[in-house]
Amino acid sequence: MKKVIVTGGSGFIGSNLVKYLLKKKYFVINIDSLKYSANPYNTKNLSTNKNYIFFKLDLNNKNKILKILKRYKPIGIFNLAAETHVDRSIDTPYNFIHSNILGTYNLLESILAFKKKIKLIHISTDEVYGDVIKGRSDEKYPYNPSSPYSSTKASSDHLVKAYVKTYKIPAIITNCCNNYGPNQFPEKLIPKLIYNIIKNKPLPIYGKGKNSREWMHVHDHCEALLLIFLKGKIGENYNIGSGINLKNIDIAKKLLKIAKNKYLNINGNVKIKFVKDRPGHDIRYALNNNKIKRKLGWKSKITLEKGLDQTFNWYLNNENFFKSVPKKLYVNRLGLKI
Ligand SMILES: NC(=O)c1ccc[n+]([C@@H]2O[C@H](COP(=O)([O-])OP(=O)(O)OC[C@H]3O[C@@H](n4cnc5c(N)ncnc54)[C@H](O)[C@@H]3O)[C@@H](O)[C@H]2O)c1
Repeated sequence: MKKVIVTGGSGFIGSNLVKYLLKKKYFVINIDSLKYSANPYNTKNLSTNKNYIFFKLDLNNKNKILKILKRYKPIGIFNLAAETHVDRSIDTPYNFIHSNILGTYNLLESILAFKKKIKLIHISTDEVYGDVIKGRSDEKYPYNPSSPYSSTKASSDHLVKAYVKTYKIPAIITNCCNNYGPNQFPEKLIPKLIYNIIKNKPLPIYGKGKNSREWMHVHDHCEALLLIFLKGKIGENYNIGSGINLKNIDIAKKLLKIAKNKYLNINGNVKIKFVKDRPGHDIRYALNNNKIKRKLGWKSKITLEKGLDQTFNWYLNNENFFKSVPKKLYVNRLGLKI
């Protein structure tokens, strides 16, 4: 059985990827330090799976990671472990430097010390390109990050590139747009709005809600990651984009409409509430996805309508997901209870 490591496998995308890879008959080693966004609900039925093993470990623990590499001899690593919330990066940038820059550096050093070839898929974001007011950013678009989050992701991408060139580590970088779907920590826009709709609370939207993001269902992202692992070219970047852009206000309106179609008992409190904007808030991200389409024949399959509807159902049917989040984490940097 082929063994792969997923770092950050207890978080949102990581836990979806772990389940996808298990379905595809890989033996999956999850390395995660279980920070606040690692909800135990995300991996709840996995401990009995004989093809899955979990290590509670920080990426910065190079010696232990090297031991895992020596013991399991995986053929690949999907590196998703990171601090991921832009708001938190504004308040506590060091956590982002620790996980995203130093963590990636230590992972690269562990791979070097292992001395055998392991393919590294380093999962990055569209946010590294910064504001894309017009058109769409392709893989040659200059990195121009705006937040401590995106700048630490950009920095880790540069480190990966340098290790490919200098030490011949076989690595590929992927830049994906915003994901939504099951298991997402409810400080992020879509699960936050769904939670508030279910709980009859106002829907906080930054500024006037005009910021535009490109949206992809997490299952589409997982499929693209495995394809890139199998067929992608070493040393390259691949944008993973859906081509579907929506303003935040329109996401909120769509979710309200879905709730009404489901005859949810929502009251007058569930109204869009504009709140003071986040500093350095990029207006728009938009990826050009021609490369992955042309070179690997891949495009996203899940429409936003279907994906949002399924996602809403998932959160409705998995109330224990929300219950597994400690209450104190339900407050964001503006003090808004989510
Ligand atoms: N969510 C998105 O829309 C999106 C889009 C594009 C790219 N990405 C990237 O995908 C990856 C996963 O994002 P997510 O939304 O699932 O995040 P998440 O916050 O839900 O999960 C991150 C996981 O990483 C773990 N982690 C953090 N620091 C660690 C460390 N030092 N050592 C070990 N584990 C650590 C956390 O415990 C958590 O389980 C990130 O690298 C992110 O930059 C996310």
